[in-house]
Amino acid sequence: MTIQKIMVVGAGQMGAGIAQVCAMSGIEVVLHDIKEEIVEKGMLAIDKQLQRQVEKGKLTKELKEETLSRLSSSTELQKASTVDLVIEAVIEKMDVKTSLFQELDKIAPEHAILASNTSSLPITEIAAATSRPEKVIGMHFMNPVPVMKLVEVIRGLATSDEVYEEIKALTKKINKVPVEVNDFPGFVSNRILMPMINEAIYTVYEGVAEPEAIDEVMKLGMNHPMGPLTLADFIGLDTCLFIMETLHEGFGDDKYRPCPLLRKYVKAGWLGKKSGRGFYRYE
Ligand code: CAA
Repeated sequence: MTIQKIMVVGAGQMGAGIAQVCAMSGIEVVLHDIKEEIVEKGMLAIDKQLQRQVEKGKLTKELKEETLSRLSSSTELQKASTVDLVIEAVIEKMDVKTSLFQELDKIAPEHAILASNTSSLPITEIAAATSRPEKVIGMHFMNPVPVMKLVEVIRGLATSDEVYEEIKALTKKINKVPVEVNDFPGFVSNRILMPMINEAIYTVYEGVAEPEAIDEVMKLGMNHPMGPLTLADFIGLDTCLFIMETLHEGFGDDKYRPCPLLRKYVKAGWLGKKSGRGFYRYE
């Protein structure tokens, strides 16, 4: 099978980014969400992002228009009946994902692959909600999707070799680098990244240093493009807490306990860049 048409479910920042990179690589993409205004916002974000590249001379006007012509919007899940692959990028709640996958399982053609962009939820459990667990796989993109090269390709317990190879080829086609990972809490990326961020938060909590100093140490000392607290604000502190809780529960090991300061910030609504305040303030 060659994947020619994709539906991306969830038109938030990740979903829009995924739809953009797929459409740019010549694939027909349907961007779906439950509300018209969310899909429109996603489509607008893609348009703006492409326009920026045109202005920088990195993309021609013609290629921008071609990319946009391959994109369509949807608020009817039924449109999944004509696609070869669905990439889900909705809220990180297992019950939302399992009921969505159950619906998609009924609508999508028999040959279609169902992928999830989850950052830490078990692919095996999502797959078990469908009648095609061998065709369910994780495609974990990194934020910002148009810039970051990695896609963690997560094999659930039942994912077939054929489906893995298909997704690996697709990932290369969209100019990303696939890395094969097995299905364990946090996969590889968040199992390593989040404890580092959590430790940086403990370092603030215990008064070892100010956030600016901690970020400076990691930027200048370890050549990280962003310090861990800036990155935490960028990812969203609610997302960081959710992933730490998934690791803590999944492994039952206290080394993954979320820092109380992280919980406090999330309870206060200090979610990082998206809420205007996290470890830093944003305009
Ligand atoms: N969307 C699209 N493009 C963006 C962007 C965005 N949000 N932010 C920056 N860019 C582009 C810029 O347009 C610029 O492109 P050109 O080179 O074509 O001009 C390029 O990225 C570099 O941007 P800047 O020069 O403005 O800034 P920078 O050099 O500081 O790079 C960054 C910005 C790429 C975000 C960099 O700071 C970085 O790599 N940060 C770390 C990001 C990271 O770790 N991401 C993973 C998060 S974890 C995750 O996603 C998984 C999870 O499950 C939580």
